[in-house]
Amino acid sequence: MSSGYKESFSIVAGDFASAGEVSARIKIILRMIGIDPAIIRRVSIAAYEAELNMIIHSFGGEMTLKIDSGSIHIDCVDTGPGIEDIEMAMKEGFSTASPDIQMMGFGAGMGLPNIKKNSDEMEIRSDPGGTHLHLKFNIV
Ligand SMILES: Nc1ncnc2c1ncn2[C@@H]1O[C@H](COP(=O)(O)OP(=O)(O)O)[C@@H](O)[C@H]1O
Ligand SMILES: [Mg+2]
Repeated sequence: MSSGYKESFSIVAGDFASAGEVSARIKIILRMIGIDPAIIRRVSIAAYEAELNMIIHSFGGEMTLKIDSGSIHIDCVDTGPGIEDIEMAMKEGFSTASPDIQMMGFGAGMGLPNIKKNSDEMEIRSDPGGTHLHLKFNIV
């Protein structure tokens, strides 16, 4: 892949009916390109958790997939309300999900810790205007 690949997907807040569709699309693209299945698995887990976080916790935004010769990048940019305490949010089991969301089976507080575990690099920047999560996965 010399030229690289880039595609953006929009994610709508509260759209549980579409939950998992963007990460499923990303998985298909990575398969078509011929990425190692073990790497696809890690990217898929991280992308799914990031997608769900945008649906559940944010006002919505965009997820962008970029692939170059050595790495896969996923950028999640939403329009708020931001993460109040990132250090807290990174802790296993920490969740601000409402009882209603928990009734739907979400809000175990394992999303961000699993994103960290499955990515090679993770950066979060957040303020009330939005959250930017950058993930990098090494291909080789
Ligand atoms: N994109 C986001 N916008 C606002 N808050 C977020 C976002 N992503 C995560 N959070 C906050 O971080 C917490 C922990 O996220 P996570 O580990 O995925 O657990 P869960 O989604 O199960 O609550 C969430 O409960 C929420 O408060
Ligand atoms: Mg989550």
